[in-house]
Amino acid sequence: MQIHCGIVTISDRASRGEYDDLGGPALKAAAAEHQWTVVGEHLVPDERREIQRAIRELIAQGAQLVLTTGGTGVAARDVTPEAVLEIADREIPGFGEAMRMKSLAITPNAILSRSLGAVVGQTLVLCLPGKPAGAVECLGFVSGAIPHCVKVLQKVPTSC
Ligand code: MTE
Repeated sequence: MQIHCGIVTISDRASRGEYDDLGGPALKAAAAEHQWTVVGEHLVPDERREIQRAIRELIAQGAQLVLTTGGTGVAARDVTPEAVLEIADREIPGFGEAMRMKSLAITPNAILSRSLGAVVGQTLVLCLPGKPAGAVECLGFVSGAIPHCVKVLQKVPTSC
């Protein structure tokens, strides 16, 4: 099935125009490599309500997969996991576990990322780190499970 995906960059400074959003374009390129259709992109500050609104808008636009980048760390303004879990029906812990496990081979700071996967309605939401390379790396570590997960959530018959 063709996966429809939405992208949310979460960054106070990029949303104020203090620097360019590099994470969103990096994820867009990764989505293109997977041949996923990007239905929309948002750039929002580290504010729970804005993060939640962006995710809901993308779901309303047909996103079966939402990729977020940023705000997974331990700084006071990092609220992405809280924002997503507040609107999620359930978390899928394996996504965060795999991202941290594999990323620890790259940087000890991977332990600081509260990256996660969660289900919002019928949509898989993946929260990836803010550094563009880290976001693409983490997506790569879990991408093998995405098609099956999306199919199950969309109630599309699947063979395993
Ligand atoms: N994971 C991978 N694979 N590669 C990275 O470069 N950066 C780490 C971590 N996870 C990184 C990574 C760093 S430096 C931080 S602070 C945390 O993700 C959280 O990033 P965020 O707060 O920008 O989301």
